[in-house]
Amino acid sequence: MSDKLALDVQNLSVSFPMRGRGADGRRRALLAVDNVNFLIARGKTLGIVGESGSGKTTAAMAVARLVPKLAGNITIDGIDFGTLDNEALRQARQRIQIIFQDPYSSLNPRLRAGEIVREPLVYAGETSRAEQDRIIDELFEAVGLRPEQKALFPHQFSGGQRQRIGIARALSTRPSLIICDEPVSALDVAVQAQILNLLKSLQGQFGLTYLFISHDLGVVQHMCDDIAVMYMGQFMEYADRKSFFAAPRHPYSQALLDAVPTIDIGAQPTGGKLVDGEIPDLTLPQTGCRFASRCPHARDVCNGGVPQLQDWPGSTGHRLACHLTGTFATS
Ligand SMILES: Nc1ncnc2c1ncn2[C@@H]1O[C@H](COP(=O)(O)OP(=O)(O)O)[C@@H](O)[C@H]1O
Ligand code: SF4
Ligand SMILES: [Mg+2]
Repeated sequence: MSDKLALDVQNLSVSFPMRGRGADGRRRALLAVDNVNFLIARGKTLGIVGESGSGKTTAAMAVARLVPKLAGNITIDGIDFGTLDNEALRQARQRIQIIFQDPYSSLNPRLRAGEIVREPLVYAGETSRAEQDRIIDELFEAVGLRPEQKALFPHQFSGGQRQRIGIARALSTRPSLIICDEPVSALDVAVQAQILNLLKSLQGQFGLTYLFISHDLGVVQHMCDDIAVMYMGQFMEYADRKSFFAAPRHPYSQALLDAVPTIDIGAQPTGGKLVDGEIPDLTLPQTGCRFASRCPHARDVCNGGVPQLQDWPGSTGHRLACHLTGTFATS
């Protein structure tokens, strides 16, 4: 594997056990992530975008081994991370940190900000207290907090400042991969831009690799080098940012894009809302395109097997999972 790759995820599937048994007598399970593949080069950002419930968080948590996977290989910095256990796993975990959506619930309310940032360093177990103090000071400065704010508790900060503490904490072990799971969704719009800009500048400063999850295509456009559009456990489209935003090809991506409000302040949303329709039951095996019930282009052929990602005709690397690839007009 190239040493330029920070993360290589192959054939990742995650299922959650459910109560009861299905019609075939088997225990029911919900396949939240169904055979997804992605690569992130060092220093780059992959955005996974999709509506709530599409499996974005589950996929990311499986990468970090915070939920068990059903299948798949996870390679981080060339290390087969998916199969490590015990001490090797504890060591390797420092390579991945997570920035959560809600910095309030993800920060321990009883710890002072400085101690919140110290915790992962203690867990890593390698540095002296003086060295930890030096790193904490450096991180506070890097994320735009003042040294005296180390002594304050989470409730004494604004939402944006709390996310800065979350970011400092995530940076503390010098991870090679940071999972940002809807990092600005809980923040006011004005604060969102500050935090996104901070994440970008830290990426340049520390050479960070991001797996960036968002339901918001506007945010993804600002942050990501590559985009994966996820729907009901499956990647529907995968492309580099330029190619994707020049011409989003998949009907689901187009519907998502139509639902994005224009960026002008005070302007009306252009497209309104996503197409209505039944969503598939992920406790049952999929037999066709899972977007068919909501897709304006759907035809009989769409129910004949699950479409797999393939290159848009004439492109290399702009892939979509659609039986009608190349046959309907796109913008
Ligand atoms: N711990 C869990 N147990 C059972 N089902 C879960 C669990 N976590 C998530 N799910 C289900 O998995 C699917 C994907 O959820 P999630 O990964 O949170 O989506 P997203 O992050 O895209 O909103 C949803 O149907 C959700 O209800
Ligand atoms: S396979 Fe059919 S239903 Fe699915 S996205 Fe393509 S056109 Fe729509
Ligand atoms: Mg989520």
